[in-house]
Amino acid sequence: MEKTFLMVKPDGVQRGLIGEIVSRFEKKGFQLAGAKLMSISQELAEEHYGEHKERPFFGELVDFITSGPVFAMVWQGEDVIATARQMMGATNPKDAVPATIRGDFGLTVGKNVIHGSDSPESAQREIGLFFKEEELIEYSKLINEWIY
Ligand code: TYD
Ligand code: MG
Repeated sequence: MEKTFLMVKPDGVQRGLIGEIVSRFEKKGFQLAGAKLMSISQELAEEHYGEHKERPFFGELVDFITSGPVFAMVWQGEDVIATARQMMGATNPKDAVPATIRGDFGLTVGKNVIHGSDSPESAQREIGLFFKEEELIEYSKLINEWIY
């Protein structure tokens, strides 16, 4: 079963959006395989966002993501990586259409509420950065009979 890494960013946690966001992925039919409320260290932030190291916003991005607790999650289901990106909406909330998470809850690119892996490679990398294998749940196949 395909898995992705999603994270409610510090702005989303502070604004009380964890439940709303979890609810959207649950209702869609995806399964939560792991989750934790946690603080991100400077080191983990720099590793997680390593691809943006040379970008002008890197410092602010790392400061923001380490500024308060985040809600880190692993979700699974058919095409969850691409579908979750669609449900999140465009990176800049001003371009994100209504009914997406960033379209409904975000205003600026700096505080855009949610992170989601953008490819199978980044999903595998990010899940490994945030979760140990024993923190993830394997569900019985029977649970999925009503969805697939
Ligand atoms: P990116 O990986 O391009 O977007 P996404 O989160 O949709 O995968 O960028 C990572 C984060 O960096 C993004 O969520 C918000 C921040 N960011 C800025 O602050 N300014 C920018 O111009 C961009 C492109 C991103
Ligand atoms: Mg990205």
